[in-house]
Order: sequence, then C-alpha cells, then structure tokens
Amino acid sequence: MIYPIVAFGNPILKKEAAEINEGADISLLVADMFATMENANGVGLAAPQINKGVRLFVIDSNLMLDEDSEEKGIRRAFINPIILDEYGDPYSFEEGCLSIPEVRAEIIRPEKLTLEYYDEHWNLKEEEFSGLTARVIQHEYDHLEGILFVDYLKGLKKRMVKSKLIDISKGKVSTDYRMVYP
Ligand code: NI
Repeated sequence: MIYPIVAFGNPILKKEAAEINEGADISLLVADMFATMENANGVGLAAPQINKGVRLFVIDSNLMLDEDSEEKGIRRAFINPIILDEYGDPYSFEEGCLSIPEVRAEIIRPEKLTLEYYDEHWNLKEEEFSGLTARVIQHEYDHLEGILFVDYLKGLKKRMVKSKLIDISKGKVSTDYRMVYP
C-alpha cells in the first residue's frame, strides 16, 4: 500500500516518535514504507511522514549516487535506531524532504556516525556510516525526534522559506505523489 505523505504543518512531524516493541510484526509496514518512498522518488522516509509516530525509517541511498561513485549506497530499514556518536568534519549539503516539497537548503552535519538499530528481522546491529548514506540517516533520524531540516535554518534563509512553508501547510503545492495537509 502506498500511503499519502504528511505535509509540513502536521503536528505529528514535530513529535518525538515512540519505540516499537521488540519482535513486533512490522514486515507489512516496512514493505509499505519502501513502496511509498519509491513512489515519491525519495531517498528516505520516516514513519511520522506517513502519520505513524513510531521509530522506524527506510532509506535507499543508491538513488543519490552516480554509477561511478566509489561510495556504495544501501537500501535498508532501521528500527528503534540510536545515534551513539557523530564525528568527522562537518560539511554542508543541500537537503530536501518529501514532507516539504520544493524547499531545499544547505545543512551542516558531521561526516560520520555510529548507529545502533534493529534491522527488519529484529537483528540488533551497531554500524558506522559515512558519506551520503550517513547524511540520509541523520535527516531521517531527526524525523523520529520531531526535527525537520528547516528547523536548522536561521536569519535570512529562514525568512526566505517561511512563506513557502505556509503555502505547503495550506496545500498550495503540487507534487506527483499524494499528500495529506494539516
Ligand atoms: Ni524528510
């Protein structure tokens, strides 16, 4: 099933998501989240974006990488993730979000992270990620904390996107995937 994507302005995007009980049957939800993300040509999708306040996100960082890129992307689900550490040189990269169409902004984040998480078969993992995969994980992890990339904007840039955000929350935006507005 392809879910509509929750638009900016919906309170669920600002709430901290709840842990999923270990061993819960999440296979259908994970499959639906991959289908929803792919339908919208996204590289990541967090459960709050389909109006489910639980700690789960899916990513496919292959879609951001050129064929001749040295970095290998991954397509994976992350359940109850915890960022144990973030490190490496912070760098700026232009981010966007399926919940905030037509808005993009340069955001500074550390280069690498260590993540503890369960995979979709409830195997506990601890793994280091870097490059664009780390970037997507950081963005999606923020969704579980109720943080959006536009929350990092300050000053002029923040003022520049403000009217666009109001338009999105009122449904005055066009997307080639289905959205639900507040
Ligand atoms: Ni997002």
